[in-house]
Amino acid sequence: MSRSLSLTTTPLASAMNGAMEKRRKVLIPTLDLAQPVPPGPDVYTNDFLSLTNDPDLRQIFLDKLAKSPRVFGVAGSRLLGGNSSDHVNFENRMAQFFDAPAALLFTSGYDANVAFWHSVPQAGDVIILDELVHASSRDGMAISRARKSLYLFSHNSPSSFEEMVHLALKEHPTIAQGKNTLFVAVEATYSMDGDFAPLPDIVRIVEQYVPKQSAHIMVDEAHSTGVFGPQGRGIVHLLGLQDRVHTVLHTFGKGRALTGAVILTAPIIRQYIINYGRPFIYTTALPISLVCGLNASFDYLEGPIGDQRRAQLRGLCEYFRGALEEAFKHIPPNLLSLQERSLPNGYPADTISPIIPILTGYPRQLADFLNSYGYAVQGIPYPVVPKGHERVRISVHALNTEEEFDTLISRLKQWATMMQTMGTQVQSGRIQSRL
Ligand SMILES: Cc1ncc(COP(=O)(O)O)c(C=O)c1O
Repeated sequence: MSRSLSLTTTPLASAMNGAMEKRRKVLIPTLDLAQPVPPGPDVYTNDFLSLTNDPDLRQIFLDKLAKSPRVFGVAGSRLLGGNSSDHVNFENRMAQFFDAPAALLFTSGYDANVAFWHSVPQAGDVIILDELVHASSRDGMAISRARKSLYLFSHNSPSSFEEMVHLALKEHPTIAQGKNTLFVAVEATYSMDGDFAPLPDIVRIVEQYVPKQSAHIMVDEAHSTGVFGPQGRGIVHLLGLQDRVHTVLHTFGKGRALTGAVILTAPIIRQYIINYGRPFIYTTALPISLVCGLNASFDYLEGPIGDQRRAQLRGLCEYFRGALEEAFKHIPPNLLSLQERSLPNGYPADTISPIIPILTGYPRQLADFLNSYGYAVQGIPYPVVPKGHERVRISVHALNTEEEFDTLISRLKQWATMMQTMGTQVQSGRIQSRL
């Protein structure tokens, strides 16, 4: 391969360098994959149920593989020779488990969201979306027939959502006339704040104002699957809303320790995506080994270990959250603080998120400090998040220990003391500010 691209003098390289330089100027970090942080306790991945290194799950998976006549890829798209009985059986299992009319398997949550949002909304339809929905949904919407009819509501705000519903209905009278569809895009749990969608309010508002036949609520359960609800069926099941939302996405890369995703929806939508959803059509189907792994992961979490891990996770989240609240009482909030803890209407009082953002005015300095102790956390600076919301995102896992969190908290306190000392020295003119 030609090495000339590494020269900054080529027009392509200088355009790319220029673009990255612009990002650096507005303080968006340029990321690299060259140097992974040496492994310390996992307080940052989405392996919420601690499955990725679980020896029992590994064994269940290997036993299944050993019994499976085929394990490799299927060498084709589902539509071009790649449709095995393993894929179909797994989809049937998903439809049954999640009590859905139909299920369609995807190679990733990204592909599932793009396939759904780019293909399903029709000309004249509108999409009302939470301003923080994931890039995969946004990418699909950007190439959808409804791309010019997107209505963003303020994150998790039922009143802003209701306002957008009224505006959309006013600007698109064909919805009230029953000729078009109003889609709603929300995530059950959001990745940056770990907060929960006000799903009961959203469903109530839609049912109140949008004709039944013209409403379509789509819930992305990427961060909640496995973690919440009976046997890990997610927030929609936790709240008993499965008959009042229309499409649900479960991804398998986080709480289920693999990759891939399933869309649970009406049979007509399943069939439509099979025919029109480009990320479904134009990609090789998941290998059989992965379907074996998914079956193993579902078997495992449907058994007693699932409830055990969820209870452990909840207990640890409570422990860590309480200990942080206590520790941060004596630390200036611009150095370390927490978001207020609150639950939307209708959630059981013991619902607690495994994603806990540590707010700090100095996200990069804090992340660098924690990296030096083996925590591969990342700072999320402004303008990636609004000013005052900069953070380091911590996630709790079922098999973390209280001691691991005690140590992490002592590191946080150590950092805060160091920053305060430096701040005092800066103020007294003894050292140059690096803050
Ligand atoms: C809310 C949400 N939806 C979808 C995705 C994409 O899922 P996947 O990682 O399986 O492509 C993600 C991944 O980060 C996500 O956070």
